[in-house]
Amino acid sequence: MAAVSTSKIFKDDIFKDKVLLCTGGGSGICKGLTEAVVRHGAKAVIVSRNKDKLEKAAQEMRNSTGGDIFAVSGDVRKPQDMENAVKTTIEKFGRLDYLINGAAGNFLSPMQHLSYNAFRTVIEIDLLGTFNTTKAAMEYIKQTKGAILNISATLYYTGTPYQQHAGSAKAAIDALTKHWAVELGPHGVRVNGIAPGPIGGTEGMDKLGVGFEEETVPMGRIGDVKDIEQSTVFLLSEGASYINGVTLVVDGGHWMNPNYVAYPAMVHNPINFKGML
Ligand code: COA
Ligand code: NAP
Repeated sequence: MAAVSTSKIFKDDIFKDKVLLCTGGGSGICKGLTEAVVRHGAKAVIVSRNKDKLEKAAQEMRNSTGGDIFAVSGDVRKPQDMENAVKTTIEKFGRLDYLINGAAGNFLSPMQHLSYNAFRTVIEIDLLGTFNTTKAAMEYIKQTKGAILNISATLYYTGTPYQQHAGSAKAAIDALTKHWAVELGPHGVRVNGIAPGPIGGTEGMDKLGVGFEEETVPMGRIGDVKDIEQSTVFLLSEGASYINGVTLVVDGGHWMNPNYVAYPAMVHNPINFKGML
């Protein structure tokens, strides 16, 4: 079954007067998530490093939703940048209800070509970036009894080759989802995650998914950003008010397929990997 727009499933105004902060919200999956949450009534701030890309994305989303979206440039590796993004959100919109930790970096690399700095860089963006942003935002989200969503991946469930940097970062992010669910739950804040499967038309798939075979997905198709939008709108909504500490896999059953090969072009035909193996 094809993915459909959240506006066909959820009421228009379920996030009326709410405010979202989304890292990585200027492109790919997280741009879609921001747009979906705004389409249901929220205002949003998107943050990442590339100011031009962010401004363009914010304008596109204003045009498509008629909503209020503001862009702040910042690097999730820098706590001060995330403090600034949160401060700007409060100055601009007066509150903060939802945080989506979506910023990430990834590439395929076997260990012998993964430099010390390369491994550290991905851990810093994905894991420390998630911590930095959440720590900066936490007190405001407690005030609104809001919700946090960490964007993860299924990579480490099966020890996906050439993905030790991103896989270990996402594993630790999933641990944070559980720790924060327990620590922030008593404050009325829910913390959950989504682990998307292969999602078409994204930088992640462009970089990692060469040779991907749709028939390896039990649902018979590659994922669509709308699939992750639907799950996000649900998890942030009151419909999920007793769901806390869960990382929801949204992959059409892909990772559980015993015939699953994460990156077929590399694994079956290593020459495609520029002679690195
Ligand atoms: N294979 C192996 N190592 C790589 C690599 C690759 N394809 N790309 C970058 N690296 C290494 C670099 O060589 C560098 O290590 P070194 O200093 O030992 O040479 C290290 O990773 C950091 O690279 P740099 O380009 O300085 O980092 P950055 O902070 O500018 O960029 C990346 C971060 C590398 C993750 C970059 O790909 C990025 O910005 N990605 C964001 C978008 C993205 O990856 N989206 C996919 C979905 S998450
Ligand atoms: P994407 O468009 O490249 O998204 C990554 C975003 O992170 C970009 O907008 C980038 O913007 C931002 N970013 C990177 N480094 C940053 C930094 N240091 N500080 C602030 N922002 C930074 O890729 P995507 O494929 O849609 O992935 C989105 C999320 O889904 C990621 O968490 C990824 O791990 C996850 N995921 C994707 C797939 C998939 O199939 N695509 C599958 C599983 C999980 P700037 O360059 O402007 O900083």
